[in-house]
Amino acid sequence: MAKRLHIPIRFKVLITLLAVITVVVSLITFNMAKLFHADKEASIRDLTSVIAANTAEEARSLLSGYREKLQVFGRIMFDGKLPSDQKVRLLAGLFEESGDFVAVTFYEKGKNPFTLYDANALGSAGLSKADVQRYRLEHPIPMDRLRREKVFVENSTLAEKLPTLTMVILQGDPETGRETIAEAVVRLDSLLRLARRSVVFDTYLVDSRGILLARADRNQVGMRTPVDWTPDLTNLKYQPSMVTTLEYSLGGEEKIGGFGRVEFGELLVGVEIPKTAAYLTARDLLTNLIYSSILMVMVAAFLSFIWADRITHPVELLSKASRVVAQGKFDVHVQPTSRDEIGELAESFNQMTHELKSREDALSEAQNKLIQSEKMAAFGQLGAGIAHEVKNPLAGILGYAQISLRKMDQENPLHKNLLVIEKETKRCKTIIDNLLRFARQEKVALDPVDPNTVVEDAVAIVEHQLNMNKVKLEKDLALDLPRIKGNSNQLQQVLMNLFINGQQSMEGKPGSVKVSTRLLASGQIELRVSDTGPGMDEEIRAKIFEPFFTTKPSGKGTGLGLSVSYGIIKDHQGEISVESELGKGTTFFITIPVHESRVG
Ligand SMILES: Nc1ncnc2c1ncn2[C@@H]1O[C@H](COP(=O)(O)OP(=O)(O)OP(=O)(O)O)[C@@H](O)[C@H]1O
Ligand SMILES: [Mg+2]
Repeated sequence: MAKRLHIPIRFKVLITLLAVITVVVSLITFNMAKLFHADKEASIRDLTSVIAANTAEEARSLLSGYREKLQVFGRIMFDGKLPSDQKVRLLAGLFEESGDFVAVTFYEKGKNPFTLYDANALGSAGLSKADVQRYRLEHPIPMDRLRREKVFVENSTLAEKLPTLTMVILQGDPETGRETIAEAVVRLDSLLRLARRSVVFDTYLVDSRGILLARADRNQVGMRTPVDWTPDLTNLKYQPSMVTTLEYSLGGEEKIGGFGRVEFGELLVGVEIPKTAAYLTARDLLTNLIYSSILMVMVAAFLSFIWADRITHPVELLSKASRVVAQGKFDVHVQPTSRDEIGELAESFNQMTHELKSREDALSEAQNKLIQSEKMAAFGQLGAGIAHEVKNPLAGILGYAQISLRKMDQENPLHKNLLVIEKETKRCKTIIDNLLRFARQEKVALDPVDPNTVVEDAVAIVEHQLNMNKVKLEKDLALDLPRIKGNSNQLQQVLMNLFINGQQSMEGKPGSVKVSTRLLASGQIELRVSDTGPGMDEEIRAKIFEPFFTTKPSGKGTGLGLSVSYGIIKDHQGEISVESELGKGTTFFITIPVHESRVG
């Protein structure tokens, strides 16, 4: 089977959170940048066309003003009723007031022109009337393009210092039918001011030939315009719409431009901005967004790491603890670190190990008891076998010894020997009887017995013997105890064994043996015998219920007292156990089921 890659949960959580955050942040960033860009583009396009339309409108009204003045000049000039000297005076007066006008020329087709010049303006630009006349000769007005009611306008800059346009109008007298031409050379200063108004947008005006009339950079006046590069713009002249927006590339630079017709002398207005400048804020925003996104992702990574650690740390602890449990050590406790599901899991885990521990303890206790009782059963069988074999010959020996004693004279030297035989045989018989009792060969009847009475009787029998050995026998008997199912003689014998063992353990030193009775919550009666003797070590404690186990010198103890007691208590469906520690005395616990349930 292919080995699965081990990826810690911490890492999985981290990666998942990071992936989600990165995707969300990227989507937000991308959409915000896209929206902002679209919004910016729409507003830039709008702005260029609005500026173009406004500039066209203002240029038109400015140029209309020039045309009206020129028309007034023309009417005076070609008024047949006015005497010539008055005409000249009037015209000269008007010219002085006309401001932007540098020169005005009037003529009828085929006749000599009449011209007025602003000598000061020409002079300050280093020009003379002759220069103006020469320029006109070199750049004749395209007469074929002149139409009545239409104004012809074109750039006519003579010197850099004095940028000018030339405006020509063709007027016809409806009565006489004669056609007159009025021509004005006008400073471009007012138009240049219009073009200079925006710092961000490059604004310019061009004449019908594509020559710049005005631009923020006035050095470019008279040059050909960027209009040529955008054929769409040339077509604009024939389009009904006043303004349009175009995107184009100029000298390797991407631009957005708004273009409009001035509706006067076929002039056009252009307003353009490089895309780099237009989208500067959008790009700044995008850069900021990217930086803040990276920061957000980094913060998110940090938080995810801490979060993942918080989640997985307790799980790791649990996993370690589980491995310990798997090795059979149930004594582990995991400290719950949170109040969530993982905290609950830790608590359940602790509960589980606690449960396992107590079950294991109960199991090993039960196992010990089983071993003990099996051992006892084996001892019993063995003992019973021996007792049976020995009992009859022993009865024979005792019988013959006693018959011989009766027939023998007391002076006979063998009489003493026979007495010894009788005494030792009796002792053997007692041992055999005890062995048989332990092996439960003799079943006795169990009747309702008052536990306190049993205790009192046993105490009465041995109290004197204990007192003689400086051992006090104390009683602590619970009142109103239910009766137990038992045999008083046998139970008395058990208690006496325990009292005497206690007294013997003190080896003549003063002390006390205490007996108590009580009703347990389990419904059983507990008889407890404790002494202030030296106690036992673990090794002795494990063997005390075995037949013939004794620590007493030979002839003093048979080692059958506790094993017989054990057998008796088992016959009573009870339990006998001991708690003892060296230097801390010994306590025996006997529990016996009650005979009847108590009434009221
Ligand atoms: N109260 C006690 N304090 C200390 N050791 C005890 C106590 N009761 C019993 N023992 C130990 O348990 C052993 C076995 O006791 P058990 O009553 O079965 O036999 P025994 O007293 O030695 O002899 P027997 O009872 O036949 O005279 C004792 O020899 C003694 O070592
Ligand atoms: Mg004993």
